[in-house]
This record gives sequence, structure tokens and C-alpha cells, in this order.
Amino acid sequence: MKITKICCIGAGYVGGPTMAVIAQKCPHIQVTVVDLNEERIAAWNDKDLNNIPIYEPGLDAIVSEARDRNLFFSTEVDKAIDEAQIIFISVNTPTKTYGKGKGMAADLKFIELCARQIARVAKDNKIVVEKSTLPVRTAEAIKSILDNTGNGVQFQILSNPEFLAEGTAVQDLLNPDRILIGGDTTFEGQKAIQSLVDVYSNWVNADKILTTNVWSSELSKLTANAFLAQRISSINAMSELCEKTGADINEVAKAIGMDSRIGSKFLKASVGFGGSCFQKDILNLVYIAKSYGLNEVADYWEQVIIMNDHQKRRFSSKIVQTLYNTVSDKKITFLGWAFKKDTNDTRESAAIYVANDLINEHAKIAVYDPKVSSKKVLDDLNYLETRSIENNANSITSHLDPYEACQNAHAIAILTEWDEFKLYDWQKIYDSMQKPAFIFDGRNVLNGIELTEIGFIYKGIGS
Ligand code: UDX
Ligand code: ADP
Repeated sequence: MKITKICCIGAGYVGGPTMAVIAQKCPHIQVTVVDLNEERIAAWNDKDLNNIPIYEPGLDAIVSEARDRNLFFSTEVDKAIDEAQIIFISVNTPTKTYGKGKGMAADLKFIELCARQIARVAKDNKIVVEKSTLPVRTAEAIKSILDNTGNGVQFQILSNPEFLAEGTAVQDLLNPDRILIGGDTTFEGQKAIQSLVDVYSNWVNADKILTTNVWSSELSKLTANAFLAQRISSINAMSELCEKTGADINEVAKAIGMDSRIGSKFLKASVGFGGSCFQKDILNLVYIAKSYGLNEVADYWEQVIIMNDHQKRRFSSKIVQTLYNTVSDKKITFLGWAFKKDTNDTRESAAIYVANDLINEHAKIAVYDPKVSSKKVLDDLNYLETRSIENNANSITSHLDPYEACQNAHAIAILTEWDEFKLYDWQKIYDSMQKPAFIFDGRNVLNGIELTEIGFIYKGIGS
């Protein structure tokens, strides 16, 4: 099938950047990204590119090049579905907060709504692509809905998981390690796979495009995220041991990372991983394993989450203990709130949990993050529902200037590894703080020796 029109349902962190790059690289294909959220679509269409809803280095330039040429953002979901030959589903699949599988299974209600909408609208054959990370065998459910409620047209379901990491999304999309496409082994299935391969072939080498069956593709995405997260929990587990023994986690990571069998990436000890994917996908894997009665498999992967929760809690406890066992009414400044640098995404950010612990100890938190709004900070805390909204609002403030945020603080905690933190005038910050002035570097990004020379009491992770 010659592809001339693509639609993507969901204009979020996955759908937005992915479709922008497809549109840039395939000027002959009309790409329409649709979302129910009118505010989000308006932001994607904002003439001022500073206002597009997702901050990703390089994304504004790509949107500027392709938007209104062959990239469109719209709330007219039915129209875009009707016109497209390929429909990507990029809606959110959060962990269930109710019912069976609560706190573990993926909530597929948004996926199901999309499938029903596609079935209702489609008047000709369509290729439906799962882009969101989904539990294994979701494609089967989508197919069943499409085939049983549709207008008698043919649907081919493909799994094409997205491996981009936030903060480097544009580079990851332009130069992917691999593109994975899973589809049916039937003739029609193979034809559908080829149509999608042809789209990616506009800029990705054939040897990087991998085709598999649907289930392998779905499971590979969960497995990749589980392996990456496991490395972080492994290094974080060793960081606690380093703190007890006098070893230095940065030195240990370097030493083991030089073993080519281990490799150097994803060995950075931290306050704990965040983001919308790792925890959700592992919980999902654990749930799937349990539902097949594979309890040892489930327990094995669950430990990655247990370790991550421990690392976040350990960080807040260390702050309390070091500050003479009380942070009550003390000002603690958080530099960083996003779950990693170069993104404005805060989902599952360690900062939220550390702040929550410290507010429970009656600390006053001041936040500075170069890309996260004060509303977002407060919304994140309120989402935990551990205290009243008024109490949260009285316990946390956000600042536009890092020096102002640090003024009179008893301690600074680094929660995100933003590059700009390394460039600050730390002497000026030290002079404006309460003494002794503490820094808890949850990302090991600052120079502990220099800070100690200034007078700070510096505590990194794993040393
Ligand atoms: C991840 C996967 O990397 C990506 O392939 C998938 O498509 C989505 O999930 P993302 O969550 O955007 O991407 O970012 P990632 O770079 O993986 O970081 C996740 C978390 O781990 C962040 O909080 C980061 O700070 C933390 N991290 C990462 C560490 O603590 N140490 C490391 O060495 C690497
Ligand atoms: P991700 O990180 O997976 O991209 P986001 O939450 O950033 O997740 O984006 C998902 C988007 O999908 C949201 O903007 C949401 O409004 C949109 N969405 C969810 N369900 C539907 C639907 N049925 N039709 C259109 N858009 C939807």
C-alpha cells in the first residue's frame, strides 16, 4: 500500500516528537496528530515555538519546518482516522489505580476507546500501529474490538514500540539503534509490515529495521525497559554498600563499565529512576508473570522497583539524619524537579517522593527547575493525595531564579542533573545560606572537592 496519510492518536511525549520526525523525513506523507485535549493541540499549534507542550532539544526546529506543510495538529479525531491509511495509537497507558491489577497492571481504557473509535469511523482497510508500550497480547484485544465492532473493513495490527528517551528524543528518533515492527505472519500481515518499513526507510538503514511477530515486539519493549531499570537499581544497591565501606560508586561504575560485556551506559548512581516508563513497565511485567503463575519471575523483577523505592527513601532519610535529625521548619532547596535533564516531564520523578517525605517531616521546600512550572510542582504533590492541598501549598514554593531559591536555605538537594547547576556561582550561594550549609547531590553532578573547599558539607550518592 502506498502510504500518503498517517494519523496519530495522542499528542504526548511519544506521539508529538515521533510524528514530527516522521513528517520532517517524509515530506510526501501528510501526518496528522490528534488529541482530545484541546489545550494541548492549541499549544502544538502555537506560533511561538517556546510554547509547544513538550520541551525536547531540537524539537522546535523540526516542528517549525514541518508544521502546516505536512504536519498537522488537530482535535478532529474522526476526520484524521477516516483519511489515514496508517493510524498510530500513542495514548497514555498508566498503571491502574482501581480494581483488579490496581497499582500493577496497565490501564488499557484509553487504548480500548481508541480501538472502538477507529472501528466506528473506518470505512476502508487500515493499518493500526501500537506505539504506546502495552502488555503482551494487547494487539489481540485491539484486533478483537476492531473486527467485531467495525464496518466490515480489514484491519492489520502492528506493534511498533518507541524506544526514544526523553531529553534526547529527537536524536533517538533521527538515529535510532533499531526500529522494531511486529506483525502477523500472514500475507496481509507481511504487507502491512512492509508499508511501515517503507515509511521508516526514508531515513533509517534497512539493517536497523527489525521485523518480528507481534508478541515478540510487545515483549521486547517491556524487556528493554526492565533491563535498563535493573542496571540502575543494581548500581544504586552498590551505592549504599559504597557508603558503608569507603568505596566510591563512580569509581566502581567506571571499573565495571570498562568490561565490554557490561558496558558503561546506565550505570549512573542516582536518587532513583523516574519517568513514565520504567516503573510502569516493570509493574506490568510483574503482573503478567504473576497472572501466568510465574511467581519467581515476578519476584525477580519486582525487586528492581523495591530497590528504587528504597533509594528514594534513603535519600530523604539521609537529609533528615544529617540535619541533626530534624528538618522541621528548615528551608531545603531542590535544584531540579524533572525526572531527568532536558525534559519538562515530571512523571514519577524522584523529586516528588523526596519532597513528600520531607514535608511529612515539616520541612519547607523551595524548588527551582529550569523547565517545570510551579503549578506542575504542586499538582505532582497533590496527586499523591497524602496531605491537603492547602498544606502542600504552604510547604512548597517554586522560584524562577536559582539564587533566590537557595537564599537562607539550610540545605540544597540536587534532584535532576541539569547541566546549568555545574556553572553556578557556588561561593555566592554558600554566602547566602544558613550555616553549616549542606549539599545533597542526588545525581553526583557537582564537584564535591571544590564545594568542600568553599565550606559546604557535601554528600553525594555512593561515596
Ligand atoms: C526510558 C528508556 O530509556 C527508553 O528507551 C524508553 O522508550 C522509555 O523509557 P526515559 O524514561 O525517557 O526512557 O529516560 P531514561 O534516560 O531511560 O531515564 C530514566 C530514569 O533513569 C531517569 O530518571 C534517569 O535520571 C534515570 N537514570 C538513567 C539513572 O538514574 N541512572 C542512569 O545511569 C541512567
Ligand atoms: P506518552 O508519554 O505515552 O506520550 P502522554 O500522556 O504524554 O503519554 O500523551 C498521551 C496523550 O493521549 C494525551 O495528550 C491524551 O490527551 C491523549 N489521549 C488519550 N486518549 C485519547 C483518545 N481516546 N483520543 C485522543 N487522544 C487521547
